[in-house]
Amino acid sequence: MADESPLIRSLRAAVAAAPGDVPLRLHFAELLLSEGRNDEAVTEAAVALQHAPGDADARALMMRAMGVPPVEQSTGKPVDEPSTGKPADEQSLGKPVDEPAARPVDQPAADRPSFDWDAAEQQVQDLVGPRFLEDPQAADGEGAAGDAAAWDVDAPGAVRLADVGGMEEVKDRLEAAFLAPMRNPELRRLYGKSLRGGLLLYGPPGCGKTFIARAVAGELGANFLTVSLSDVLDMWIGASEKNIHDIFETARRQAPCVVFLDELDALGAKRSRTHHSGLRNVVNQLLTELDGIASGAGNEGVFVLAATNVPWDVDIALRRPGRLDRTLLVLPPDATAREAILRYHLRERPIEAVDLGKLVKATEDFSGADLAHVCETAAEAALLDSARSGSVRLITTKDLLGAAKQIKPSTEPWFAAARNVAMFANEGGLYDDLLAHLKRKRKL
Ligand SMILES: Nc1ncnc2c1ncn2[C@@H]1O[C@H](COP(=O)(O)OP(=O)(O)OP(=O)(O)O)[C@@H](O)[C@H]1O
Ligand SMILES: [Mg+2]
Repeated sequence: MADESPLIRSLRAAVAAAPGDVPLRLHFAELLLSEGRNDEAVTEAAVALQHAPGDADARALMMRAMGVPPVEQSTGKPVDEPSTGKPADEQSLGKPVDEPAARPVDQPAADRPSFDWDAAEQQVQDLVGPRFLEDPQAADGEGAAGDAAAWDVDAPGAVRLADVGGMEEVKDRLEAAFLAPMRNPELRRLYGKSLRGGLLLYGPPGCGKTFIARAVAGELGANFLTVSLSDVLDMWIGASEKNIHDIFETARRQAPCVVFLDELDALGAKRSRTHHSGLRNVVNQLLTELDGIASGAGNEGVFVLAATNVPWDVDIALRRPGRLDRTLLVLPPDATAREAILRYHLRERPIEAVDLGKLVKATEDFSGADLAHVCETAAEAALLDSARSGSVRLITTKDLLGAAKQIKPSTEPWFAAARNVAMFANEGGLYDDLLAHLKRKRKL
């Protein structure tokens, strides 16, 4: 569009670069709306609602952009807006929101108009994809406990490995352990039984264990089952074991397949410490399933990836050979990785001449999550400044350095605890790589 203002143009680019950034998108929509481009604002608000269902700001904006139709209080249905089957952008064209007549005068101010979201959703569904890919399942009371899927198949196009900044060593290990053999059936045939077993990711919180697993899921699609602990630990006795069994059965059917057990410490807490007998059964079931994989009874191609930040709390039985026998330490990002992570978290934000080198130096020992937090805090500062001064300004190096100074690396307490374990409880060399790291950092 030739007559587009530079602000709209750059915001459009920013939104395209960060489709999941809801506040940014709403900001963009607001701007479109202020220029009377209601149809486009509706589209943006709809996409925002996809990313943040129920978001009050997105809803409010959408209502304004659509020009809230007069609502019949008894039915909650809009009076006009017949479903014409026309795409929403056509329907909403030529309906300026700021037209005061759009809202009935006699409507009580406190009474929030009961906007018909179903109708609105139907209107815009041609513009935005469906929120869920699968068919809705009948959630009948009794069956729900056993049938509820305790695992997830990540929607394709989510995080990809390319989005993970740095962590080359971790990526290489994952690649060799199962990504390459899964992608390459020839290789799999050649190495036969190599695609099985388990890998335990461990390390300080916020350094990307879950994130990298999600990226692997993004690469593998349906061949990656993310196990949600809260879904597995069913309140019905016996259902948790069944859930675990079902997950592994699904994985076997879908082989080659990776089963991801996040926060393994909660799932497989030390059996001696687990007073909750239900949890103990879950651990036992998990052991059975893992051994099933090891015994090869139809388990070829099932790989277990697990993550924890308290590996010393994980039942040692889970870590015996054939089970989660390989460990991979996920460390706070080094300088290169920090730069990549900062780039990743800033690509969606309006920045100006940011000196990444300085910022990387100022964030030694920061975890990925800390870095994300720095970017967030800096953005907040710039936003607050803009709101106060009334003129929009971009995020600068100063904002980011200021945020970095405010935030303490969250990995320190973890290393303090890990140091003791590595020094005094390194049975069987379980924590050799941790020891090596501590030595390198002169923390021993
Ligand atoms: N290598 C990375 N590249 C990009 N972002 C990263 C990276 N590592 C971490 N992050 C960011 O940090 C956030 C937190 O990481 P994540 O949740 O994966 O940590 P974790 O190791 O699973 O922590 P916990 O042990 O607390 O579960 C991620 O959502 C992501 O935004
Ligand atoms: Mg995690």
